[in-house]
Amino acid sequence: MTLSSTTPRPLIAGNWKMNGLSAALDEARAVAAGLDRQPAAARVAVFPPATLLHRLAQAVEGSFVLVGGQDCHHKASGANTGDISAEMVADAGGKLVICGHSERRTDHGETSPQVAGKAEAALAAGLEPIICVGETLDLRQSGQAVAFVVNQVRESLPLSLAGQAFNVAYEPLWAIGTGHTASIDNIVEMHAAIRAELISLFGEQGRGVPILYGGSVKPENAREILAAPDVGGALVGGASLKAKDFLAIVEAA
Ligand code: 13P
Repeated sequence: MTLSSTTPRPLIAGNWKMNGLSAALDEARAVAAGLDRQPAAARVAVFPPATLLHRLAQAVEGSFVLVGGQDCHHKASGANTGDISAEMVADAGGKLVICGHSERRTDHGETSPQVAGKAEAALAAGLEPIICVGETLDLRQSGQAVAFVVNQVRESLPLSLAGQAFNVAYEPLWAIGTGHTASIDNIVEMHAAIRAELISLFGEQGRGVPILYGGSVKPENAREILAAPDVGGALVGGASLKAKDFLAIVEAA
């Protein structure tokens, strides 16, 4: 992508989802080692399962690898069995957090207003949120994708993000884990619509907010996707589990 002095470096984010036991820390170490040899033109972040967050943060300490949580609760603490607060993510060494991933929205019924609450909590804990949006195949096929996603952006982004560092990730549900990447035309159209909404919500700041694409990003397609207008990085699932593939995507940025 073309960088100007006001364009942030692309963010390449690896979302491990519910994958990774202790042995997977070696993959994170390998990512850190790969970046030490070749400082990247991108920011790089890994989002392990909560059970590995602290140990992974320690394993890559001092490297170029940032660490983040896959979710956070909207409250700082409380009687919420199984949940993790943004403060806890930060306390474990996280610098970023994913809010409103489609798997959270689908599997746990998270709504856009709830996602906005999580983003608020992230800011309060000093974390940089990545707020996810994306349409189902039905919405895409019925021509409602852009309107739906723009509305998700409006409802999921609290206005308290003004002046703060944050990212939006566009992940069409039909492209996640399927091997079917959205076409470059689809990506460009959607990112432009998200950009327009960001500018309408946040003014000048909205021009620089990174909009990541996610959905079957692989070493083979990363370069073309990352070069597309208004693509400010990638949110990578399956291909982030192996350091070699993830580093290849970082190199494509
Ligand atoms: P895949 O890269 O496995 O399609 O997953 C995308 C994703 O959901 C990242 O958050």
